Amino acid sequence: MPPHTVDSPTPSTPGSAPRNASSASSQPRSSVQQASKQCGVHPDTCVIAIASGKGGVGKTTTAVNLGFALSDKGFKVGILDADLFGPSIPLLVSRTEPIEHPRATDVVVPPTFAGVKVISIAMFQKKQSPNVWRGPMAGSMVKQFFTNVQWGELDYLLIDYPPGTSDIQLTLSQVARLTGAVLVTTPQDVALLDVEKAMAMLAMTKVPIIGIIETMSHFICSNCQTQHYLFLSGGGEKLAKKYDVPMLAQIPMESRIALTSDRGLPLVRRFPQADGAVAYVKAAESIISKTSKATEANDDNFHLRWK
Ligand SMILES: Nc1ncnc2c1ncn2[C@@H]1O[C@H](COP(=O)(O)OP(=O)(O)OP(=O)(O)O)[C@@H](O)[C@H]1O
Ligand SMILES: [Mg+2]
Ligand SMILES: [Zn+2]
Repeated sequence: MPPHTVDSPTPSTPGSAPRNASSASSQPRSSVQQASKQCGVHPDTCVIAIASGKGGVGKTTTAVNLGFALSDKGFKVGILDADLFGPSIPLLVSRTEPIEHPRATDVVVPPTFAGVKVISIAMFQKKQSPNVWRGPMAGSMVKQFFTNVQWGELDYLLIDYPPGTSDIQLTLSQVARLTGAVLVTTPQDVALLDVEKAMAMLAMTKVPIIGIIETMSHFICSNCQTQHYLFLSGGGEKLAKKYDVPMLAQIPMESRIALTSDRGLPLVRRFPQADGAVAYVKAAESIISKTSKATEANDDNFHLRWK
């Protein structure tokens, strides 16, 4: 069954606070401060899954660049690496050392990298030890990312989903109180098949689809300056049309994306003029626009609809 979608898209409003952010700031300061010292995700935080179903399509790269693009717009952002079996977020943000555990050992304070809070299972283990956990243990770990982490005041928490549609993804979709999901795909039909499975899983847990980001859409050749479609073309559009969900951006293949990832610097910060960075910022602006609408779900001009 297709998922339900965020209705009536409007032009993006870069820099404007989402409804949840403004309602957080309208609370008495002391209650917000108290809430920010507790573990868990504040109810006003927009929690967004960056998911695909398909492996290696650029979910992690997308989560990091969207996170920093949102942070650059003035929002408080957290990124949760939910890929327990192949955590890679710490590499992309130059942060691999273990994190601080204040007094109570079961309370975890996420480290901040260049203004963005980040947490990953990789921060709790020795380098290169393979993760061989059975389903229930993995599920329990995923839950602890929400119960034991002091996320504090956040406007956006982006969850970098692991590939596939098994226990962890389902547990996440149930426990994370997701505002919505951004689906990442490459243009190929072989990717779309897996993305559709992920959409069906999100529909089971009634998570709205915010939109689709097509990555590795094309490659601009520095010799002939033409666009080459290495992974064919049109996949993202096809999916967007089929499920009537917005296309948020097409991210080109760029060596600078791979380079910045390997060096632990987000593309949007290091090369803001790069085509990929501009496309990620455009996607972030659409997300701001669509999630501020999603939190206005009680208003007459907006509703989530089950399709
Ligand atoms: N637009 C792009 N241009 C060039 N390289 C890219 C682009 N997007 C991602 N990559 C590279 O492709 C590889 C896979 O990207 P990434 O790790 O973000 O994918 P993923 O979907 O998170 O993978 P996994 O399913 O293993 O978690 C990485 O080496 C990354 O640097
Ligand atoms: Mg990944
Ligand atoms: Zn060429």
